[in-house]
Amino acid sequence: MLFLELLAFGMPVISFAYPHNPIKSPSLRRDVQADNTVKVVGPEDYCLVMPRDPHTNIGDSEYPGGTQVFCSSIARSADEQGLLPDNFWENVELHEDQGDNGGKYVQLTGCIRPSLIDRLNQLDEGGQYDSSGGREGRGNPRDSVCVGYNHYVELVEPALNRSCIRCCEDFDDCVVSKDTKGCPAVIPGNYFNCD
Ligand SMILES: *[C@@H]1O[C@H](CO)[C@@H](O)[C@H](O)[C@H]1NC(C)=O
Repeated sequence: MLFLELLAFGMPVISFAYPHNPIKSPSLRRDVQADNTVKVVGPEDYCLVMPRDPHTNIGDSEYPGGTQVFCSSIARSADEQGLLPDNFWENVELHEDQGDNGGKYVQLTGCIRPSLIDRLNQLDEGGQYDSSGGREGRGNPRDSVCVGYNHYVELVEPALNRSCIRCCEDFDDCVVSKDTKGCPAVIPGNYFNCD
């Protein structure tokens, strides 16, 4: 009986662990690091990828070792994560929903204050980080993941005072192919006065 119950509960988990492409499953990845793991739980409970070096354009941070995850004070759980100030977002909205295939996603969209973190350049038009684009679909930063989800996509646009991040169960809900189109195209949502 116990075995049957295990089977019944085990099956969805097993199929969930193997999406379209096994390489895209974080559970099969090695070397998952706190400074390479984003998080979206609430407007004050989140971690974002940022450049590791001061005053770096997002595009210039996209080399191995060029990034570091920064967290809100509530979310920060490891020394290797940077700390974001509590007023980093000027306006932010959390939105949770399901995509066309029924997969859950969660996102933060809104206006940031880039000057409050020394890693950004105020004039940088910005760029994208993700878990599932890039070479072999292993992401940029490579092997980065989102806690509790299979995929994520994040854009930081300092010159527009705008940022966005979405974590998704379904690959299709975290679009990685629009990386030059800006936050509203990649992650539809509320951008307040910075749209
Ligand atoms: C971004 O914020 C800074 C500081 O408040 C401001 O000077 C600048 O005009 C803003 N940029 C845009 C595009 O709104």
